[in-house]
Amino acid sequence: MKYADLLIHSAAALVTMAGHSDKPACGEKMSEIGLIENGAVAVCEGKIVAVGLSEDILAGGWAGPDTVQINAMGKVVAPGFVDPHTHVIYAGSREHELSLKLKGVPYLEILKQGGGILSTVRSTKQATDEELKAQTSRRLKTMLSLGTTTAEVKSGYGLTLEEELRALHLIKELDNEQAVDLVPTFMGAHAVPPGYSEEEFTNVVVDDMLPQVASSVLAEFCDVFCEPGVFSVQSSEKILRKAKELNLKLKIHADELDSAGGAELGAKLGVTSADHLLQASDEGIAALADQGVIAVLLPATSFNLAKNSYARARAMIQAGVPVALATDSNPGSSPTESMPLVLTLACLYLRLTPEEAMTAATINAAHAVGRADRVGSLEVGKQGDILVLDVPNLNYLPYHFGNNPVDLVIKRGKIAWSVKK
Ligand code: NIG
Ligand code: FE
Repeated sequence: MKYADLLIHSAAALVTMAGHSDKPACGEKMSEIGLIENGAVAVCEGKIVAVGLSEDILAGGWAGPDTVQINAMGKVVAPGFVDPHTHVIYAGSREHELSLKLKGVPYLEILKQGGGILSTVRSTKQATDEELKAQTSRRLKTMLSLGTTTAEVKSGYGLTLEEELRALHLIKELDNEQAVDLVPTFMGAHAVPPGYSEEEFTNVVVDDMLPQVASSVLAEFCDVFCEPGVFSVQSSEKILRKAKELNLKLKIHADELDSAGGAELGAKLGVTSADHLLQASDEGIAALADQGVIAVLLPATSFNLAKNSYARARAMIQAGVPVALATDSNPGSSPTESMPLVLTLACLYLRLTPEEAMTAATINAAHAVGRADRVGSLEVGKQGDILVLDVPNLNYLPYHFGNNPVDLVIKRGKIAWSVKK
């Protein structure tokens, strides 16, 4: 037997999330977080080799002369957060939109006037590869410090084949160069650029972009902003059907601002996840449950749009829809990198319990990005992506908000970020 490279022991609470790797947790199973009091976890060559009671793991012969031992007494140890919905590859910022928002100008109105997403498309195009990478890696570093160890990243601030492929290339480079594992999504259908009708641009995405994106093998998922005034249900269906034909997995921005059948479309096409869902209908929710589609909920976006409107998470959980949580990190509707903030908002406004919120931010989020075989739980054989949280119990995590509760981030068994440095 090999000694462990890393052994974390004496955790007040070790949240394992065990038992949900085959299928996302739904209904009452979302409360089953596999908690071990006075728990320990050992990692060898990047993978978890033992999980259990501290006394058993410490007596199990895992600790050798070179094993890094961490005493997590009085703290919570949990799987690294998986953020399954981000738009972090962009240049610039949009703080000027805050005053428009405060004056009551709607989000889609800003877009219609050539601002919003289109303003970020312009600043992203102007940035060199080096600038775009530097700005994105800065965000990824912040995410890592806040406990995110795996994140989905969407293209979508290019809106031309060349610019979309550039973003996907840079996501790949960033994946290799920094600690957070990245899952790439093609989202050419993020907005209709000037000079095109919705129908014309839908054809560009379907006929020109998707075949090239698929053959580049730079994207795992295809996503579309299905919203009246952006891409209709019909256009979204055309795009997602083509993506499916090309063997891309599917996601959909559905029913964010208006209820138009986005959830129903997602269920019909068998998307991996339907995201946002603030205005999802009862039928839409039932259809998601029926097809086992994961609802990725983004309460930081609701909070930041400041309309006092949140997704009906309780109805979804009751209907049997597996729920995941994400930041939606982007320069317009959710300029934050913080999964801990998302957990707080999920408890306060989506009415999730802290246990459900942890499930949603770890193993269900891992399922939403197709990585549940590797991350999202602390189980033997999984990647050693682990958080030591400076909180005495799980309730404290969403309770004390606006700060960073993370003490240590372990990525593949190595310290990737520490509050002490
Ligand atoms: O998920 N809704 C569409 N896309 C993003 C916002 C992007 C932006 O405003 O730059 C979202 O909210
Ligand atoms: Fe989004």
